[in-house]
Amino acid sequence: MTPKSIVRRRSGWQAAKDAVAFPLRAVTLFQDDRWGLSSLASERFGYVALFVGGECLDVGCGPHNRLVTEWLGGAGKGIDVFAYEGLTDEHIVEDITHFPFPDESFMTVTFIANLNHVPRPLRDVELAEAHRVLAPGGNIVVTMGNPVAEVLVHKVVAVYDRLFGTHHDMDSQRGMEEEEEYYLLDCEIRERLARAGFSDVRKKYFWTQWALNHLLEAAKPG
Ligand SMILES: C[S@@+](CC[C@H](N)C(=O)[O-])C[C@H]1O[C@@H](n2cnc3c(N)ncnc32)[C@H](O)[C@@H]1O
Repeated sequence: MTPKSIVRRRSGWQAAKDAVAFPLRAVTLFQDDRWGLSSLASERFGYVALFVGGECLDVGCGPHNRLVTEWLGGAGKGIDVFAYEGLTDEHIVEDITHFPFPDESFMTVTFIANLNHVPRPLRDVELAEAHRVLAPGGNIVVTMGNPVAEVLVHKVVAVYDRLFGTHHDMDSQRGMEEEEEYYLLDCEIRERLARAGFSDVRKKYFWTQWALNHLLEAAKPG
């Protein structure tokens, strides 16, 4: 799929620096770029943006709706269940079992570091909603960390926030529910995607995070 609206792209030189400095970034740069290096958040938005094929819906967009505003030049919508900084009523969906958009209104739907935070009973429901709002021929992108890395990063960020009084761990800020998880295995994501009607699943590793994070892309048949 050719990205049509991407407005921010990392250079090869930047990617090389980020790859070498990954261990340092993994314990310090969670949300914000610094020291000439990309944060883990910037990096996952950057990888995902490469797979966005047009108007995009970002589910569980997080603070400031960054994918849509910073990477896609506003070409899309972000929705979330929690009123993080930088989000307005327009972003907050009270009944997340129904995405407030007409059928076939987006070319791409993204779940970035998010599907594991959708409580288990709602996962199929939200993927079905993603399928409904996607145009035929559109795609879905789900990012997911390696299980060990996900647990470690959550612990490191929680300690960092306690030590420095920051709020990088947006999941503790919101309060994780019982039916959420730190990670999902690919087999579960693939099964749920197939149940929702998606096909042609492809996997791409984030090499600048030493393949400890990846995305699955799938298509809504045209
Ligand atoms: C780890 S954060 C990721 C945020 C953002 N996508 C990013 O990559 O920085 C997980 C997000 O999932 C959201 N979330 C929690 N429950 C959800 C649900 N049922 N449906 C959609 N998003 C949900 C949270 O509010 C939070 O914004």
